[in-house]
Amino acid sequence: MNPKQRAADAALKYVESGMVVGLGTGSTADQFLRALAAAIAAGTLTGIRGVPTSLQSERRARELGIPLSTLAETPRPDVTVDGADEVDPNLDLIKGLGGALLREKIVAQNSAKLVIIADAGKVVERLGTRAMLPVEVVTFAHEVQVPFLRNLGAEPVLRVAADGSPFVTDNGNHIYDCRFPDGIADPQRVEQSLKRRAGIVETGLFLGIAAVAFVADEDHAEECTRESCAIA
Ligand code: A5P
Repeated sequence: MNPKQRAADAALKYVESGMVVGLGTGSTADQFLRALAAAIAAGTLTGIRGVPTSLQSERRARELGIPLSTLAETPRPDVTVDGADEVDPNLDLIKGLGGALLREKIVAQNSAKLVIIADAGKVVERLGTRAMLPVEVVTFAHEVQVPFLRNLGAEPVLRVAADGSPFVTDNGNHIYDCRFPDGIADPQRVEQSLKRRAGIVETGLFLGIAAVAFVADEDHAEECTRESCAIA
């Protein structure tokens, strides 16, 4: 079985009838949306409401027939299931390659539990060694963030859309993808520095937020918690 599907199917064990479920964004989260929709259609899960983390996951959920809610209506989802770009052994993450980091973090921080689903290729010893760190910035004078990001040790690149124009998030902002040549030695420090800077809206560092991760290869999905993880 495809590892993304295996991880997504495994995460269903955290969903019970009547729950409000945060719906992640990306190709692995899409596998979870399919599995959730199939369980709803089969009647094995009833009374589910989904809170999307992007316009894309909202559209997919509608197509698949998953009933929807919002954080305004249901401010404390029971569980959110989402993908990641990197997962380290403490279940700290880099997210946001799909551009949905801000809404993903808002939904995750307001959920009782964040469950990550990933293929084994997402596991790293140190964050930033494979993926670039997405940093969402307001469009106003976004160029001034470049020297600031370089001072933090990053090599920032403004994300562009398919037509070459700057990528615009669901929230009307731009993203700088930041490569750290040796990975991110101190993610907490980088996160604090970024969050103090005017014009930086959010970062793709998800530190201490995930409670569980299912990391899958073709044969097996390993369930990890922060306390016990055999993924690296
Ligand atoms: C979306 O903004 C991201 O945070 C995704 O969750 C992440 O990029 C993982 O995507 P894939 O499952 O497509 O690899």
